[in-house]
Amino acid sequence: MIRTLKKELEGLDVVAKLEYLSQKYKDKIVFSTSFGWEDQVITNLIFSNKIPIKVFTLETGRLFPETYYVWNRTLEIYQQPIHAYFPKSDLLQDMVAAKGPNSFYESVENRKECCYIRKIEPLKRALAGNELWITGIRADQSVNREGMEDVEWDEGNQLLKFHPIFDWTLEDVKAYVKEHNIVYNTLHDKGFPSIGCAPCTRAVREGEDFRAGRWWWEDQSKKECGLHAS
Ligand code: ADX
Ligand code: SF4
Repeated sequence: MIRTLKKELEGLDVVAKLEYLSQKYKDKIVFSTSFGWEDQVITNLIFSNKIPIKVFTLETGRLFPETYYVWNRTLEIYQQPIHAYFPKSDLLQDMVAAKGPNSFYESVENRKECCYIRKIEPLKRALAGNELWITGIRADQSVNREGMEDVEWDEGNQLLKFHPIFDWTLEDVKAYVKEHNIVYNTLHDKGFPSIGCAPCTRAVREGEDFRAGRWWWEDQSKKECGLHAS
């Protein structure tokens, strides 16, 4: 299935790929945005070309104010819907009542529990019934991602994943954002190459890894939120 799809996409530009997929997987194709600049590029491709792909975000409740600003501006600019999936309130309520609002700093187990409640469970609902999931993952974001491919099978979620700007460099992304005057998260200019929840993301220093600012207090090996578990 993957090989066939890869063949079908061969030679098409990124807009043509998205258009092709939107026809092939009609009403069963979604794009997840975290409002980072990779995602803003894809949102621009989808919305400005009116490609029928549902755009959604996982509203963890712990995003940066800058992220909410980008979200809101994006709605104003394109006048097209971005669906928000929230955590189940009873799960969240029980966790916070038992462990407080910042339990994720205390152990990897607690952090994974929070990511599960705020992201993974809502993601499962967002993906249910769909056949193709589009993300803003790029190969040079991490060593792990370098080993991935632009079309993948997601065993856990039982659907295909497609990363339309997989081969773009950060410079390509920045150039596109500039050229198309795309609204982006200003934290990117302040040392945040990768932006997740506010309490779990810090700026990185010169020369530090792209994802060094995510769950920075944890072992490198344990830094997996499970959204893109392979
Ligand atoms: S993560 O696994 O570390 O959280 P990362 O921040 O690199 O992922 O983002 C990779 C892709 O995952 C994004 O391009 C986006 O498609 C998706 N993603 C990450 N966080 C969210 C979110 N809060 N809501 C929706 N999609 C998200
Ligand atoms: Fe919770 Fe942090 Fe995971 Fe966000 S990134 S869901 S705040 S542990």
